Amino acid sequence: MQIIETVAGVKEQVAAWKAAGLTIGLVPTMGALHEGHESLMEAARAACDKVVVSVFVNPLQFGPDEDYDAYPRDIARDGAVCAAHGVDAVFHPTPEEMYGPAFNTYVVMEALTDALCGASRPGHFRGVCTVVTKLFNIVQPDFAFFGQKDAQQLAIIKRMVADLNMNLKVVGCPIVREEDGLAKSSRNAYLSPDERQAALVLSRAVRAGEAAVRAGERDAAAVKRQMSAIIEADPLARIDYVEVVDGATMQPVNTLGRSVLAALAVYIGSTRLIDNFIYEEGE
Ligand code: PAJ
Repeated sequence: MQIIETVAGVKEQVAAWKAAGLTIGLVPTMGALHEGHESLMEAARAACDKVVVSVFVNPLQFGPDEDYDAYPRDIARDGAVCAAHGVDAVFHPTPEEMYGPAFNTYVVMEALTDALCGASRPGHFRGVCTVVTKLFNIVQPDFAFFGQKDAQQLAIIKRMVADLNMNLKVVGCPIVREEDGLAKSSRNAYLSPDERQAALVLSRAVRAGEAAVRAGERDAAAVKRQMSAIIEADPLARIDYVEVVDGATMQPVNTLGRSVLAALAVYIGSTRLIDNFIYEEGE
């Protein structure tokens, strides 16, 4: 398995694979790889001839007061994880390789990015859409794999691919959790033992909300109240948002429809974590 640091190097490898008629799967990541990322690699491995994982902590999607500098980076370990999952190439560019001094073009989506993480992290999805478009253009994948853990991101990428006629299929993969329910995240590494325990309020709130919806609750405010109460009971937890939105438009609803995303972002100490559930009527 190769670790490639330049755009030209990836393009050359991809051209050779395409010339041989091979299909390519891309798994975009920011590294600090865990079982959530590994599940995406496995899905790509099963569906594609060649698998590329990108490992790039994208400065463009972090706000000025966010954890860009602190974000965990360990390419040797990440490379070993990728090799163990049969990945063919890791794309690990520097920020300068991705964003030259004259860089001046951005991909900006409108309404879908207003709510949830878009509201509390201004500019975040502009950074995500821009870097993912660049990765798609560099790697030219037939399939790209994203986790349901970042449900709004997944919906936005699917919308972008459809709106801009990008020539690939986006595959969504289920949330991978720790045994006690906490959704796997690179940011879990920031948690102290007490915070790690407190972080369970996220998955507990998700489970309670989902159970209420499956039992027939259709009042969004009631679902939000129930989820919020679980989080507010822990002194180490502070709600950023608890929201129930339409699964397609990402706009808040009062009464639950056929497709619902209930999503939350919670600070545990200074670490911001997210979790969600999706409810599709009839599934
Ligand atoms: P990152 O947070 O590293 O996540 C990379 C991919 O792994 C995303 O698609 C995310 O949804 C998925 N993922 C993370 N934790 C998961 C879990 N517990 N279960 C299933 N999938 C999980 O998301 C990003 O990076 C960036 O925004 C990126 C798309 C790479 C653009 O910079």
